[in-house]
Amino acid sequence: MSELAVWNCAQLVTLAGPPRPRVGAEMRELAIVHDGAMLVRDGRIQAIGSRAGMERVVSANAEIIDAGGRIVLPGFVDAHTHPVFAGTRAGEFEQRVAGATYVEIAAGGGGIRSTVRLTREASEADLLAAARRYRAWFLRGGTTTIEAKSGYGLSLEAELKILRVIRQLAADGRLRYVPTFLGAHEVPDEYRGRLDAYVDLLIHEMLPRVAAEKLAESCDVFCEPTVFPVAKARAILAAARALGFGLRIHADQFTPDEGALLAAELGAATADHLEATGPAGFEALKAAGVQPVLLPASVYHLGSTRYPAARQMIDLGLPVVLATDFNPGSSPTASMPMVLSLASTQMRMTPAESIAAATINAAYSLRRGQQIGSLEPGKLADFAIHDCGDYRELPYFFGRESAWAVYVGGTCVYNSPQVY
Ligand code: NIG
Ligand code: FE
Repeated sequence: MSELAVWNCAQLVTLAGPPRPRVGAEMRELAIVHDGAMLVRDGRIQAIGSRAGMERVVSANAEIIDAGGRIVLPGFVDAHTHPVFAGTRAGEFEQRVAGATYVEIAAGGGGIRSTVRLTREASEADLLAAARRYRAWFLRGGTTTIEAKSGYGLSLEAELKILRVIRQLAADGRLRYVPTFLGAHEVPDEYRGRLDAYVDLLIHEMLPRVAAEKLAESCDVFCEPTVFPVAKARAILAAARALGFGLRIHADQFTPDEGALLAAELGAATADHLEATGPAGFEALKAAGVQPVLLPASVYHLGSTRYPAARQMIDLGLPVVLATDFNPGSSPTASMPMVLSLASTQMRMTPAESIAAATINAAYSLRRGQQIGSLEPGKLADFAIHDCGDYRELPYFFGRESAWAVYVGGTCVYNSPQVY
């Protein structure tokens, strides 16, 4: 038996509560234990309480972690990322700064398709090395699980290559990966003007193969009139559902409501982005039990001011999720602390609401709510010690990676090099 005790935590932010995603005022209840302690056995949380209580039950050979008056949180669950790709789009970034728009660059053959060209050429080993570098960035912010989409291959072989890289990344357990197939991220160069043929390939070849090799749990589609219009997105997602995939949708990033309405119609797990969604879309998501995944870092990085209407969604009782959307085009950040900052300053989510959205609600959106997302006995010991004394400092001190130490299943996967 391996045992670990963490104590001297100014705040042990447990998020203990009902076993379901949190809504409305529940998102502001973090169930904090002040001056708390936590006992971990064989990778799972055994007990939460006071240091005195823990000292009585801890075994002589347990590892003791003195949090030094810092705060302890469940590891962030980043429920929307694109972490496997080759190259960067720093050149396009420069073009956008000079005035070109994301949509114009994409229409001219750049954007997602330029990353696809590089990713197709890259070997599995090169993609793995790049993704391992990004993994270190996720850990530095206190993230312990990410949803990981394919989508920069757009051919059977290249999509399988990316999903196999995700499988390899997951194998050593330093960060948990939940894979999603996003073959419908864009129409590749060789299928331009032949959308129907590409949709056929997705439905009849790619999806069945991904299902047979069990390489993904969910299927996502970039639903947008100029990419996969609603009718095509519906056909792809219905085929995915029939094969047992969970459904997630890039919905209403640029164009209003249709994506949200489709997510509701199909009973998707999540509708992501929602920057252009209006009240009808929100009502539909609520009625269908779809979780909104908000991605304020992509709004920020694209230089837009159209943030999703988080307050409206929370007030309506939607179980909001926050994620980075880490990708080389619209959101090159792996930082959940940065996302929390943007959620507070740009979307008026309170620090507590942001934390609930980035942990327990995100875990439920990935069907992992019973295992991760809160610090409660029986759950996996995925947690981060952050270098602050109050959880509100997470969105307040912005532009830094706050994790001091990070644990996945009770094993230390990251230690901050900071000395002072
Ligand atoms: O979520 N909108 C589509 N997909 C990504 C962007 C991907 C890229 O630009 O490479 C997003 O913003
Ligand atoms: Fe995305």
